[in-house]
Amino acid sequence: MDEKNLQQHYEELKQQIHFHNHRYHVLDAPLISDLEYDKLVIELRQIEAGHPDWVTPDSPTQRAGAEVSEKFEKVRHPRPILSLANAFGAEDARAWYERVRKLDDRVEKASFVVEPKIDGLSVVLHYRDGVFAQGATRGDGEIGEDITANLRTVKAIPLKIPLIPNPPPVGRGEEIRVPVYLVVRGEIFIPVKDFEKLNERLEENGEKTYLNPRNTAAGSLRQLDPSITAARPLTLLVYQVVYSEGGEVPASQWELLQWLKRLGFPVTDVAQRFENIESAIAFTVSWDKRRDELSYEADGMVIKIDDLDLAGELGFVGKDPRGAIAFKFPAREVTTKLLGIEVEVGRTGVLTPKAVLEAVEINGVIVKNATLHNFDYIAEKDIRPGDRVLVKRAGEVIPYVIGPVVDLRTGLEKPFTPPLTCPACGQPVEHFEGEVACYCVNAACPAQLVRNVEHFVSRGSMDITGLGIKIVEKLIEAGLVKDVADIYTLKREDILEAVTKKDRKTGKEPPGKIADNLLAAIDTSRGQPLNRVITALGIHGVGEVSAADLSRAFPSLDLLRAASADQLQKVDGVGPNIAEAIVDWFSRERNQKVLEKLEAAGVWPVGAAHTSPEREGLLSGMTFVVTGTLPTFSREGVKEFIESHGGKVIDSVSKKTSYLVLGEAPGSKYQKAQELGVKVIGEEELKKLGLE
Ligand code: IVH
Repeated sequence: MDEKNLQQHYEELKQQIHFHNHRYHVLDAPLISDLEYDKLVIELRQIEAGHPDWVTPDSPTQRAGAEVSEKFEKVRHPRPILSLANAFGAEDARAWYERVRKLDDRVEKASFVVEPKIDGLSVVLHYRDGVFAQGATRGDGEIGEDITANLRTVKAIPLKIPLIPNPPPVGRGEEIRVPVYLVVRGEIFIPVKDFEKLNERLEENGEKTYLNPRNTAAGSLRQLDPSITAARPLTLLVYQVVYSEGGEVPASQWELLQWLKRLGFPVTDVAQRFENIESAIAFTVSWDKRRDELSYEADGMVIKIDDLDLAGELGFVGKDPRGAIAFKFPAREVTTKLLGIEVEVGRTGVLTPKAVLEAVEINGVIVKNATLHNFDYIAEKDIRPGDRVLVKRAGEVIPYVIGPVVDLRTGLEKPFTPPLTCPACGQPVEHFEGEVACYCVNAACPAQLVRNVEHFVSRGSMDITGLGIKIVEKLIEAGLVKDVADIYTLKREDILEAVTKKDRKTGKEPPGKIADNLLAAIDTSRGQPLNRVITALGIHGVGEVSAADLSRAFPSLDLLRAASADQLQKVDGVGPNIAEAIVDWFSRERNQKVLEKLEAAGVWPVGAAHTSPEREGLLSGMTFVVTGTLPTFSREGVKEFIESHGGKVIDSVSKKTSYLVLGEAPGSKYQKAQELGVKVIGEEELKKLGLE
């Protein structure tokens, strides 16, 4: 880019950032994610670094965040309400340290306090003679908005503070006098759990749900009617004294936090003090993985020089004090375009919508697809193809669409209508009462067949390596595989045909070799033990562990097929639903044919498994009952998790049940567990039990 173009780009960038500042701070309706915003600012700073002469006072780098909206009275802050410079990683944090160390060699011996960087809204609270007198938003850093009436409704804000800290500090000769005029700063936010509850309530009332806690908190605080604010689960954590008169304030951030706590302010309990920068950085980095342990959303940690006098003397750059740095965690929410909604058919016939996205990087991974949960979710959130959507990818959870950025609609986006027929076989879909999911009930549906075969050949089932999904699809398309048993009558030519079609371009091994290996793997699988064959059948609810138990109780497929629901239920871990599913599976004509063909193919093991298929793990010997919808695990997923760590999932609660895993909207099992005194845990605790 030549200089002229660069300058023009610079001006545009400034306008863009102003625009997004306004959306974020004044309208509480951002159009881009924090990550995208930060990128714009970084670019702006880079240009300014190369061209200091272009920088005018109206550059977004020269003043803090927002304009003041017209609705509220203005409040001039007694001191500028500063922001923080960002560090995106340990190297950035070290570079900050080096910069300040060069400015002042006292930094070398400095201690650091690390606190969570709460993703909320900065507020400034004034106390006169120990009484909460005024509260303001940060505004542009110089002037904020008077939101005293709204803040009074926030229960975490003390309306009165003692003029002598309570209890008084121990081991100190003289008491420091609490200032008669004290101005503190903190962050208002909505805890994640409360946010979810709020959204559920709105959903039940058929109202629009919110996208995320931060914007909801911001919107709630800037209501002209305080009763609306009062109805929102806002809370507060305080971390700074902005100004004081007629008294004393501790001169170290660490002591300040303890002191604020003694005055009755809510203060984080996660903060820690470190003797050197490296240990402070190590602690900071460790919180990236642990951020979900916090009850609120944190977008990073703040590393602060503990000595507040030293920090103050370091001064600031623009609006950012030199004495502290915000260490940002990688963003987990990003906006992108929803190109379309695809519908997939699962093994059990459930139709699930899948978001096809314009590729976007989230926390180091390129995301092109995300889950939309189910069709009700799409309707509730009013997600439309063509929308700009907010996508979240956190931890190991599959990326999901949070919701649309409605303000960016062009007006051409049409609501999505769930299909009435199966996208794979064209048969009408069915809805079962009391269930959100809709199903393709056509047992011959090719899409279900693909999933069935995929499961049949998978590692925990018949373990046929080399029969990848692409080959399976080809074989089904060619009519060579109509059910799982057809795998055993495949001929070399059939496989060759499917392989060459698939691998024409990419094949590393010659198709002949692939076909021979595959035939050998198929042949070997004939010798798989009974428990694996039972697993491979793909009966709803029968995982590896139940299959092993069943194979011990009914040591042949003949015996299993002849068992009644009552007999089946005698098996540990088999409740009425699974027993019913097994009986139902064997009663279907189509499945009976599959069994006949398997028997003819020599896949007919007799006798219980010799090797113990029960997995050893931290959950060994424990039984679990799951009720309600879990935050991230599906029903199958939680079962798999428990079983893969050696535990058992059973259907009904008894005194012997080790734990009840409780989700949202639980059934009667919850009550029963309470009656019987069975321990109740949530998904997070379950994960800890299994993994730690
Ligand atoms: S210290 C001079 N500490 O993050 C003091 N800020 O990106 C500057 N924030 O504007 C702020 N948690 O609204 C500080 N523990 C914390 C914080 C925190 C959240 C916010 C604050 C600030 C923004 C900077």
